[in-house]
Amino acid sequence: MNRLQIASFTNIGYHLHARSFEPLQTDLTGQTVVVTGATGGLGLAVSRRLGAMGARVIMVGRSEEKLHEAKASVGGTPSIEVADLSLLDEVRELGRRILETEPRIDSLVNNVGVLLPQREVTGEGLEKTMATNLAGQFLLTNLLIPRLLESPPARVISVSSGGMYSERIRPADLQFTNREYSGTAAYAHSKRGQVIVTEMWAERFPDQRIVFHSMHPGWAATAGVAESLPTFNMMMKPFLRTPEQGADTIVWLAAAAEPAATTGRFWFDRAVAPTHLIDSTRETAADRARLWDELVTLTGSDVLVG
Ligand SMILES: NC(=O)c1ccc[n+]([C@@H]2O[C@H](COP(=O)([O-])OP(=O)(O)OC[C@H]3O[C@@H](n4cnc5c(N)ncnc54)[C@H](OP(=O)(O)O)[C@@H]3O)[C@@H](O)[C@H]2O)c1
Repeated sequence: MNRLQIASFTNIGYHLHARSFEPLQTDLTGQTVVVTGATGGLGLAVSRRLGAMGARVIMVGRSEEKLHEAKASVGGTPSIEVADLSLLDEVRELGRRILETEPRIDSLVNNVGVLLPQREVTGEGLEKTMATNLAGQFLLTNLLIPRLLESPPARVISVSSGGMYSERIRPADLQFTNREYSGTAAYAHSKRGQVIVTEMWAERFPDQRIVFHSMHPGWAATAGVAESLPTFNMMMKPFLRTPEQGADTIVWLAAAAEPAATTGRFWFDRAVAPTHLIDSTRETAADRARLWDELVTLTGSDVLVG
């Protein structure tokens, strides 16, 4: 990654790119949007923007108290769903509840994400970064696909990270069992996985009844960044985007006309971005197929409707 690319992740990059943004005035009245990790940071900013545009936002988080507090600042008639998204059983139960109660879902925003300095294992025995950032999202998306198909063109937006540029997918070691754990590497690896899976979902829906997008938000000042990268947060504070600026492309992908007509892309500041900056991170077709198979095995879910 060169210095210019890194600088574009800052609020200066945002201001430069935003000079060419058209105002987003879509009326989302009648639409239902599911946002994961909606209690703070980018997820709350997305919920507020989409709620203000008329969408009914289903806000998903692990703390009921935080969800109630967050919901109070979201317009329209948002609802809340409590689920620990690192636990596949809770994701399964969440999917079941949403399918039971929601007659339509127009967009799913897979925003939840964690960067854990120490290796943690969930109560289900999975490495927690991969479970939260990749396996849980894979499962929730597959579960909701039958309902998303009923509101074409529905959208699935997965929030990745520029950090993924540093990692090549290693599908045989999704859980960092065969190498030394590093929080930033495990995070980047799971985020690389999100981008590949987004492309693979898109391949499974060539008719674009559902469009799949991944994106990276640049660097935004959120509780997650402050907690997981305190030194970076302190040094970069003046240059971090606001949560609203970080959320802008997520909102655009959910609401603008252009992203409804394309699929399987990776976006940054409302523009298609490359998925690799160096050749050594490129995966093979066999890596991709193995990644998909591993996720199917881990989650017990696959795309059943094509
Ligand atoms: N901010 C950035 O600069 C940046 C840069 C690149 C990518 N991203 C990505 O953008 C997304 C949002 O980041 P952020 O900075 O807004 O993060 P954040 O401030 O840490 O917020 C994350 C949200 O996810 C929720 N969450 C975490 N683990 C959960 C779990 N197991 N079950 C349910 N909810 C859970 C958190 O809930 P609690 O309040 O309960 O913790 C919170 O609502 C993430 O995917 C992140 O990787 C962010």
